[in-house]
Amino acid sequence: MATAEKSTRDNKASKTAAKKTARASGTKSTAANTETRKKRAQAVATKSAARKEVRAFAKDEKSLSDLFEHALGDIYYAEKKIYKSLPKMIKAADHPDLVAALTSHREETAGQIEKLEAIFELLGKRAKAEKCDAIDGILEESESLLEDFGSSVAADAAIIFSCQAIEHYEITRYGSMRAFADALGLDEAKQHIEDILAQEKAADVSLTGLAEDSVNAAAAEYDDE
Ligand SMILES: [Fe+2]
Ligand SMILES: [Fe+2]
Repeated sequence: MATAEKSTRDNKASKTAAKKTARASGTKSTAANTETRKKRAQAVATKSAARKEVRAFAKDEKSLSDLFEHALGDIYYAEKKIYKSLPKMIKAADHPDLVAALTSHREETAGQIEKLEAIFELLGKRAKAEKCDAIDGILEESESLLEDFGSSVAADAAIIFSCQAIEHYEITRYGSMRAFADALGLDEAKQHIEDILAQEKAADVSLTGLAEDSVNAAAAEYDDE
């Protein structure tokens, strides 16, 4: 037994020594090395081809109705987050017309959430929000803008700046969804989307009016000094 153990130990020691020598001299069996690399490359290629096939299959499976459903979950998530974010902006707003515009648009947003739920129902699906990185980014930015400008003379201008980014995000999404619904023949869903889109566009126009008619000029007062 002791002899066998010694022989195994000797064997290991001699293999380690051989590896060390090969590394040191750079002469590690080149033929074996090439063979191993070839095999590895083949395995990677096979795996990658298999992955490509799976991806291609998954792509084939998806169609416009899947994209429409994705967009619906995405905007449902966005509207809920916007609804939650608006009170902070309303609280920080100073101009009474801006406070009124944001308050009434928050009420509209509650109605939009219900309309989106009605579209889920039309599709025979449970209403489900899908995390949207785009609106998360816009809302994060609006939070930090409020921190930077919230107590300044440019607070209202900063709030409008953020809210218009939100409105434009919504307008692009509802614009695409309207066209998807049209192509898919989802007439009732399309009507809901058109109603929401009209509200988003009107909100954007009223914010532009407020900014250009009074808020921007008031915020620029300090810049004259
Ligand atoms: Fe909205
Ligand atoms: Fe909106």
